[in-house]
Amino acid sequence: MLGRPMVEVMQLLRRPCQWALFLVALAAGVRGLAGCHGASALTEQEAKGKHIYQVRCAHCHEDNDLALKKVPPDLHGVFAHATLPSGIPATDAEVERVVLSGKGMMPSFAGRFTDEQMASLLAYLHTGLR
Ligand code: HEC
Repeated sequence: MLGRPMVEVMQLLRRPCQWALFLVALAAGVRGLAGCHGASALTEQEAKGKHIYQVRCAHCHEDNDLALKKVPPDLHGVFAHATLPSGIPATDAEVERVVLSGKGMMPSFAGRFTDEQMASLLAYLHTGLR
């Protein structure tokens, strides 16, 4: 038995112009996937930043392993918006400041990263966390 949504799709596909639309959508989807795959290659700097993020940040920001009451915000696509979840501007300078000073239950990482490591971390955060 086909579910009702499937039957509706089949009915749509009986009309030739909708077939054309379907094929266009499919092609776009395949292109999108290909683009996604191509984009997943990180630069050397981004890859270094990813390592830092995974070792230093992800256990809180993804796993909240300390079960903090203020759940660490999701940093995926953190630079995709004008502001960070807290409302401060989503700029390199602000993110660096938070990382160096700490915030609430987030510890300060002052003195923990070289300038190069900080630049890598920011570069990785700019990828949206791939
Ligand atoms: C011990 C857990 C913990 C670790 C480790 C941690 N964070 Fe956080 N982070 C938090 C919490 C909790 C907040 C929310 C602070 C608040 O708003 O009171 C936060 C906030 C932030 C913010 C600000 C978000 C906003 O909306 O203003 C940024 C940016 C950030 N963290 C980045 C990082 C980066 C990058 C790392 C790794 C270098 C990291 N954090 C490591 C717990 C952590």
